[in-house]
Amino acid sequence: MSERPVIEINGLRKTFGAIEVLKGVDLSIMEGKTTVIVGGSGQGKSLIIKHILGLIRPDSGSVQVYGKEMSNIGKKDLKEIRMDFGVLFQNSALFDSMTVFDNIALPLRERTHMSEEEISDIVNDKIEMMDIVGSNEKYPAQLSGGMRKRVGLARALVLKPRIIFFDEPTTGLDVAKSSELYRIFFHTQQQLKYTAVIVSHDVPKIFKLADYVALLNNGVIQGCLPPEEFQLSDDPVIKEFVETTMGPLYSGEMEV
Ligand SMILES: Nc1ncnc2c1ncn2[C@@H]1O[C@H](COP(=O)(O)OP(=O)(O)O)[C@@H](O)[C@H]1O
Ligand SMILES: [Mg+2]
Repeated sequence: MSERPVIEINGLRKTFGAIEVLKGVDLSIMEGKTTVIVGGSGQGKSLIIKHILGLIRPDSGSVQVYGKEMSNIGKKDLKEIRMDFGVLFQNSALFDSMTVFDNIALPLRERTHMSEEEISDIVNDKIEMMDIVGSNEKYPAQLSGGMRKRVGLARALVLKPRIIFFDEPTTGLDVAKSSELYRIFFHTQQQLKYTAVIVSHDVPKIFKLADYVALLNNGVIQGCLPPEEFQLSDDPVIKEFVETTMGPLYSGEMEV
C-alpha cells in the first residue's frame, strides 16, 4: 500500500525574541499512520503542532494540510479543516462546570446541527469505547487523572477526526495508567483508522505504537524513521538521544 502524506512541513522557521526555536523544520505525516515527535523539553514540539493547527503563523516556510497552506488559510477553510482535527493536550482541558457527558458532547453541539438524540447516541458510544460507563453525570473534579484523560480522548474523537494530535497525553499519569491510555488509543485507532501525531516523553514505550519516530533537535527534525531504524540509527544526534533515553543497550555495535 502506498503512503500518502496528509501534512507536509517544509523549511518551517519561527523565532521568539532573540531565539530561533524552529530553524527549518521538514516533516511529512503519512495518512493512517502514527508519527511520534520526540525531543528535549523546550525544543519546540508543541510549537510544531500549533503551526499545523493554524494557531501560530510561521516566520517562513510552509505547512500544508491536505494540500492547503495553513499560513495563509482563510477563516472558512480553517474552520472546515479543523473539523478534521481531534486534539488532546496534556491537561485534558475539560470544563470543570460541565458533566462528563456535556464535555464530550460539546464539539457536536458547537459544530454540528445534530439533534440531542443523535448526540446522545454518539457520546454514549464513545463513553463505552473509553470504558468510562457510569460516569456521564460526574464532573471532572470527581474523576481520577486517568479517567479525565479518557474523557479528553472521547471528546477529541467525537467529530470523527481524520487527524488526531496528542501533546504529551500521559503527563501526570503513573506507568500503569499511561499504558492503559495507550492501549485504549491503539484500540480506537485500529477501529477508526485516523492519522495520529503524538508528542511524547514515554520513550521507549511509545515506540510500540509508532510507525514513525521524528526527533526534533536544535530546531530541525533530525530524522523521521520507523522505530526499529530510529533505535539503530548511525546519526550521532539520534544515537545520543537513544542512548540517553533508553540506556546503553543500544549503544554497542549492534548490527541488523
Ligand atoms: N507563543 C509563544 N511566545 C513566546 N515564546 C514561545 C511561544 N510558544 C513557544 N515559545 C517558546 O518556544 C520554545 C519551544 O516551546 P514548546 O514548543 O512549548 O517546546 P516543547 O513542546 O518541545 O517543550 C520555548 O522556549 C518557548 O518558550
Ligand atoms: Mg510541549
